[in-house]
Amino acid sequence: MLLQIRPLTTQKVSGSQMKELPKLKDAWLLLEDDVIHSFGQMSEIPDLKDLKTLDCSGKIVLPSWCDSHTHLVYAGNREQEFVDRINGLSYQEIAASGGGIINSAKKLQATSQEELFAQSEKRLQEVIQLGTGAIEIKSGYGLTTESEMKMLRVARELGAKHNIAIKTTFLGAHAIPPEFKNNKEGYLDLICGEMMEQIASENLADYVDVFCEQGYFSVADTNKILQAGKKFGFRAKTHVNQFTAMGGVAESVKNQALSVDHLEVLTKEDITALQDSQTMPVALPLCSFFLSIPYTPARAVIDAGLPLALATDYNPGSSPSGNMNLAVATACIKMKLSPEEAINAATINGAYAMGLSDSYGSITVGKKANVIITKEIPSYGYLPYAFGSTNIDQVILNGKLI
Ligand code: NIG
Ligand code: FE
Repeated sequence: MLLQIRPLTTQKVSGSQMKELPKLKDAWLLLEDDVIHSFGQMSEIPDLKDLKTLDCSGKIVLPSWCDSHTHLVYAGNREQEFVDRINGLSYQEIAASGGGIINSAKKLQATSQEELFAQSEKRLQEVIQLGTGAIEIKSGYGLTTESEMKMLRVARELGAKHNIAIKTTFLGAHAIPPEFKNNKEGYLDLICGEMMEQIASENLADYVDVFCEQGYFSVADTNKILQAGKKFGFRAKTHVNQFTAMGGVAESVKNQALSVDHLEVLTKEDITALQDSQTMPVALPLCSFFLSIPYTPARAVIDAGLPLALATDYNPGSSPSGNMNLAVATACIKMKLSPEEAINAATINGAYAMGLSDSYGSITVGKKANVIITKEIPSYGYLPYAFGSTNIDQVILNGKLI
């Protein structure tokens, strides 16, 4: 069965459209070089002799996952904080005592670009095996011009070496570094000046992001950074409403953000702000799972007619997993998405949240030949149902079996 067949004109799916997942039973799919050439019904199969074929009887072929929010480039891990949380400390308490993002920044600053590449490459290879075919990677564990650029260079190099679509996001505004503890304005000036200038001059980022949250960056700071980013050609994507609803959603929409991510705490005003906008709400269920914090109220989002994307948030502090299969399952189990909604959220809507809908996220003639071939399973609903199993048999990236 071929799943998630869409016309090129479908850039994203919203509201009740998300319940539909167009499919073709008894189908063939022809890939030529790195693109989808054609597909159709087995009863009308063209002459395929001289072509390499794969028998997918009993299997499902769907587009690769599009993971629109990760921090996959990082150094070391934060296992100790994991244990500290088990023993009763909260994520915020750990951050307030110098752990959290600042802890990761110290480790990253002390790690060479080569070593950072090696550590990150392992994670990228792992998520490719798990079916991810396009991914966004953020900076934000550097917090100095040099280290932010080191992260973004590693992300760019990963994309080039592994021939996978990687969108990069400058997240200098992830935390206020200790050197600027009593001088946030100084750090904002560094972000909006030197950092953006140098990152733009080496073309290291596609997007700009801000962690808009109490104790991190205010709504006014967010606006300042997004405005500055615009001048350098970086479109906005934001971390908003993870713990507090402060008006960051409306501010992001006002700045034509491509996506607003987290949204664990969501108000009626936030939903209203998203209506009639081009901004994609993105839920990160593995972060909610790992931190035991509320899940994004996905039903309220979709039932208000809005689209929704799912991403892993792969990072050392709040989601040390880049497994999109698990994100899809968790969205069904904990956020009450139907399998159809979750698969739409993890493919075409994820592609939209990276500005990649033209070439990723669906089975469409002319789009990239990036597909997942499942094992023999009874239906696509089995993917989130059998949440602990690896239901993927093979993955094809740019027309090549991995
Ligand atoms: O998306 N919330 C902000 N940033 C990351 C986590 C950062 C960390 O704990 O290292 C997130 O969850
Ligand atoms: Fe994040």
